[in-house]
Amino acid sequence: MPRNLASSTWDDEPRTKTGRRSRWDDDEPRHRRTPKLTTDDQGGPPEGARWSTWDDIGIPHGPEPHPDWVVQTLGAIDYELGILKTGKEADVHLVERSVPDTDIGVLMAAKRYRGAEHRMFHRDAGYVEGRRVRESRMNRAMAKRTEFGRELLSGQWAYAEFTLLGDLYSLGAPVPYPVQLDGTEILMEFIGDPDGTAAPRLAQYRGTADQLHDLWDQCVQAMCLLAAAGYAHGDLSAYNLLVHEGRLVVIDVPQALDIVANPRGPQFLRRDADNVCKWFSSHGVPADPADLTHRLLDEARMLSPGQR
Ligand SMILES: Nc1ncnc2c1ncn2[C@@H]1O[C@H](COP(=O)(O)OP(=O)(O)OP(=O)(O)O)[C@@H](O)[C@H]1O
Ligand SMILES: [Mg+2]
Repeated sequence: MPRNLASSTWDDEPRTKTGRRSRWDDDEPRHRRTPKLTTDDQGGPPEGARWSTWDDIGIPHGPEPHPDWVVQTLGAIDYELGILKTGKEADVHLVERSVPDTDIGVLMAAKRYRGAEHRMFHRDAGYVEGRRVRESRMNRAMAKRTEFGRELLSGQWAYAEFTLLGDLYSLGAPVPYPVQLDGTEILMEFIGDPDGTAAPRLAQYRGTADQLHDLWDQCVQAMCLLAAAGYAHGDLSAYNLLVHEGRLVVIDVPQALDIVANPRGPQFLRRDADNVCKWFSSHGVPADPADLTHRLLDEARMLSPGQR
């Protein structure tokens, strides 16, 4: 098999002590699309592509060590390969970052938060409480939802998601590796096939009973891992979980919250538990939201001795 088309060996990987699957093996070559993409007459990006922004000043990168598949080469080009999904608050595009005339290249998902005009703000009210920026002019702009304020909120959501992805990835949670942040654009690990087909969301997934039980186990493990580190996802459902080659991946994390500091932390845990339990129980996996919430509160050390 050509090096760049090798697929993941996730399912064959050993589980860690906690029973959690280890992450991608970073030595595993990551995929890119073939055939090689082209350059213009001067060897630069053709129309619709851009020079890689990896080395641009002020671009934060994901946690170190960067996985081997991250393309850091000067002179790499970012090719836009199309839209993966239009969401409520962001559009997710498929981008290939590759070095012209070489075999070096990787597919990534580019999540671009919308600016002023198109965005719906259903998330902002509850979640940005307490997430304050220093300048009061900015706070006022965000509160009034002025255009400037909306741009700021988009940037804040992108920043929050990028930072959380990095933190969760470093904890060993099954989230896409965040490659870089550029304003309202997050470039992250693409979860899908070498031909650019994105992994289905759990909501669309049809598997055998064994596969569904295994995904349920992975879901509980991921939620426990987050709870033990003090987080609730805050918008977890079968729409924010992807399934790729038997592996469950948690996405869309910008609203993840600190369950100890946020007075509504336990409520958010309960809501996440309700959502996933509802989906799994309706697909034949016994999943009890009260049990799961109890377990998550226990992981978060939020139960008194009498409650345990
Ligand atoms: N890293 C990724 N790899 C592959 N597909 C992805 C990735 N990230 C997001 N997607 C796809 O894009 C969709 C939207 O992403 P996400 O949920 O993060 O954004 P959103 O704006 O909150 O969208 P929605 O309103 O649909 O929840 C996902 O449901 C998934 O299909
Ligand atoms: Mg989503």
